[in-house]
Amino acid sequence: MELARTWWKEGIVYQIYPRSFQDTTGNGIGDIQGIIKRLDYIKSLGVDIIWLCPVYKSPNDDNGYDISDYRNIMEEFGTMSDFDSLLEEMHARDLKLVMDLVVNHTSDEHHWFQESRKSRENPYRDYYHWWPAEKGTPPKRFSYFDVDGNAWKYDELTDSYYLHYFSVKQPDLKWENPKVRQEIYDMMHFWFKKGVDGFRMDVIPFISKDINYPELPAEYNGNFVPFYANGPKLHDYLHEMNQEVLSKYDIMTVGETPGVARDQALLFVDEERKELNMFFHFELMSLDRDGDEVFWMREDKWKLTEFKKIHSDWDETFAEKGWGSMFLSNHDNPRTVSRWGNDSPQHWHNSATMLHTFLLTMKGTPYFYYGDEIGMSNIRFDTIDDYQDINTLNRYELLKQQGVDLDTFIENEKEASRDNGRTPMQWDNSENAGFSGAKPWLKVHPNHINGLNVAEQEKDKDSVLNYFKKMVQLRKDHLGLVYGDYQLLLKDNEQVYAYTRSMDDENYLILLSFSEEKANLELDDLASSTLDLLISNDSHVALKGSIDFELNPYQACVYKLS
Ligand code: GLC
Repeated sequence: MELARTWWKEGIVYQIYPRSFQDTTGNGIGDIQGIIKRLDYIKSLGVDIIWLCPVYKSPNDDNGYDISDYRNIMEEFGTMSDFDSLLEEMHARDLKLVMDLVVNHTSDEHHWFQESRKSRENPYRDYYHWWPAEKGTPPKRFSYFDVDGNAWKYDELTDSYYLHYFSVKQPDLKWENPKVRQEIYDMMHFWFKKGVDGFRMDVIPFISKDINYPELPAEYNGNFVPFYANGPKLHDYLHEMNQEVLSKYDIMTVGETPGVARDQALLFVDEERKELNMFFHFELMSLDRDGDEVFWMREDKWKLTEFKKIHSDWDETFAEKGWGSMFLSNHDNPRTVSRWGNDSPQHWHNSATMLHTFLLTMKGTPYFYYGDEIGMSNIRFDTIDDYQDINTLNRYELLKQQGVDLDTFIENEKEASRDNGRTPMQWDNSENAGFSGAKPWLKVHPNHINGLNVAEQEKDKDSVLNYFKKMVQLRKDHLGLVYGDYQLLLKDNEQVYAYTRSMDDENYLILLSFSEEKANLELDDLASSTLDLLISNDSHVALKGSIDFELNPYQACVYKLS
């Protein structure tokens, strides 16, 4: 089936974590003026869309994912007039702005919650989930960021518990109340009327809950997502939101959807259902984790065949309807090159550029996280004192209470922690990497002095950054790389990910080595084709005969077939 062309399918997204991008006020925290200052850089990458993590007013318990006023800007980041200039400057450069929409919960400092907790009769009481203490202890619910792992927090003032799937300062909104939904839709109109171009929707399947709060079933095994995600009214709410708000603008939407399996995918993104455009599934982000224990790295290494299967299965899911989103990292994850490639000095360049090649030759909108374009890597803090993330800090406390070995946890966090992906952007080799004149809120990776920075990479024609720009241009020049059908080759090969993309008479072959060793392969299916190399991240000539290849470690090659 022909897929309808749209700007958000052809666009490339660049995600900014505003706290870590560029400080202009000298307080060690990034700000909106900092983003404006770097817009020409972002434009030079060739990307089209910026996804901005939350900049709304917030007491920062979870770095902005705890919003105390949806219509104001966090003081540390600037003012509404800074925001308006950002949007204007972006649009002047033909860049679109996608905001984060965090509406499963607010901050406990939001005035709705301040009112709600005052009395059981307060008009805002029913904006949140409350459980009166006279009914006994509420049924177990797990919280991600709670030091006790308990999502119900007792509030003395009204002798009741409120629900918070994240920290105690992030109470969950009660979407079952139509007034809550109306408030949110009004707020969304407010931003769309300003001209924003879309929303990334935070933990969107969590908004609908069974408000009888049943006891967890016997199958509950510690992973609550299957029991909490996708509540009974989720699709009613998303459809309603679409009809009341989204359908009225030319915008894009992408949901963050933990717990959503492939068989439910089209419920969200089948165009005819009028809900969302895309979503981020969690299958890949769980691949290197220990089963349902999402915080623990698995002991054996993930396999390339597993990685291929995830992408091939999701490609099939969206083969005829819907559209995928391709990403390897974001602000909740460690760095791309450290996790999916190899950040040792000898393999860093090839693996970072190979992974760029992957995202930019797959079907689905590619999302890049700031700093990945220069191959930023995990900082791997040695001590809990260096961490800032509530997720790591509160988990440390929880594990301490449980008597778990904390050194093992710190070792785990060196690979798993979210702070790995939040260190300041590395602009140059000066003391704070050109991020700030003051001590940054989170340590800068020391490798910014060794070439891992924008200024040096801009000057080096073979840098990770310059490869990224070339690869972006290649995708733009070849529409078949955006819309063409994907076909996996060499399914069982554990060293090389090989696939073709085809549209009409445009055909491409992509070879990506995920191996530290040289890899040899034969592709019999290509016997009658002529191969023209469009790009490679390594000067080694990989094509040895008409169908024989030898790839250097982490080499990537894109060929045009005729
Ligand atoms: C999402 C966000 C994450 C945040 C959480 C609670 O998963 O991506 O950063 O901590 O929701 O809002």
